[in-house]
Amino acid sequence: MEFFETVEKRASYRNAFAAQEIPEADIRKIVTAGLHAPSGYNFQTTSFVVVRDPELRGKLAELLPTPATKTAPVILVAVSEQKINRAQGAASFAFDTQDYAAAVENIMLAIVAMGYAGVWMDGMSRMNDVDSEIAKLLSVPDGKWVRSIIPFGVPTKEVVQKEKKSFEERVVWEHF
Ligand SMILES: Cc1cc2nc3c(=O)[nH]c(=O)nc-3n(C[C@H](O)[C@H](O)[C@H](O)COP(=O)(O)O)c2cc1C
Repeated sequence: MEFFETVEKRASYRNAFAAQEIPEADIRKIVTAGLHAPSGYNFQTTSFVVVRDPELRGKLAELLPTPATKTAPVILVAVSEQKINRAQGAASFAFDTQDYAAAVENIMLAIVAMGYAGVWMDGMSRMNDVDSEIAKLLSVPDGKWVRSIIPFGVPTKEVVQKEKKSFEERVVWEHF
């Protein structure tokens, strides 16, 4: 799919997925798009757990029960670590949030480009300590934490992007 068409077609899909497995080559291609994202100091602080096992997926869906999590053939879990550049003159803050957001957006676009649909679930995975429960379930090591989960697959319903504000509402030339 052409790049700008992919960007325009990308939308959060929260409905049920078809009971159709995703070939491993497609999963690798999608996750690799995330690995190619930029990261502060190229620290590459985001890693991913690919959850295909039906039992594990079922447990994830119990923690986050939605039509998408209950039916997705694959659930990706983005995991962050915090790394600060201690070199002299370097910015002394971590970029893990920016790093994982860039990686996840690449993945969302790759999902669409490959003809699938999915949703970036972040707010929901942080509520009520669900992220810690997911970390326990997936044996996420100390020092790394769960940021978002991305159920994806073949959609069974139309994928519709929410309306975006106009260019004029969000962009100014030169200054506000
Ligand atoms: C940081 C972030 C957190 C999000 N968390 C959730 C979430 O927990 N659950 C959910 O259903 N969608 C979540 N979304 C998807 C947004 O709700 C969605 O992108 C937004 O409503 C715009 O719709 P669109 O993606 O179709 O353009 C999240 C998106 C982002 C970028």
